[in-house]
Amino acid sequence: MSGAERDPQSPVTPVGLSHLVLDVRDIEASHRFWTEIVGFRQVGEVEAMGMRFYAGSRFTHHELALVPIRDPGPAPAEVPPMQPVGDHVGVNHVAIQLPDREAFERTLEFLRAKGVRIDMRLNHGMTHSVYITDPDGNGVELLYDLPAEAWQDDVNAALNRFEIPGD
Ligand SMILES: [Fe+2]
Repeated sequence: MSGAERDPQSPVTPVGLSHLVLDVRDIEASHRFWTEIVGFRQVGEVEAMGMRFYAGSRFTHHELALVPIRDPGPAPAEVPPMQPVGDHVGVNHVAIQLPDREAFERTLEFLRAKGVRIDMRLNHGMTHSVYITDPDGNGVELLYDLPAEAWQDDVNAALNRFEIPGD
């Protein structure tokens, strides 16, 4: 776009989400969850803040960072399951993209083998998804995208599809 076409009254459309930063109660517990359960790898840290950075297989600097909070207080006895409609203001869940259906099925097997609590399974019109929670109760959706032909002509219809898989 040339300078003459720029409209100072309009926002620039971004590429999309870049990264998520979570304030965490226990950095070691969160690190284990995001690396040993979700499968991210740590790519760096800012030692002065105790902040750690993570990425998946996509070529980028980081997609997730964890920061330990200053005064964590006692941990809750149990992390409540992720709810599709939450009861507190803030992030409901973050979705992590798996490469394909096979990876998704391997992930389901892995979660079961590890004894990870599965809060919900849903097949949407654009993704098949499994929902779990991180150690602080943040909802985490692990998904794979259906082929674009399945949703590109009517994204809203795909979003409104909620099918509980029978397996
Ligand atoms: Fe989602």
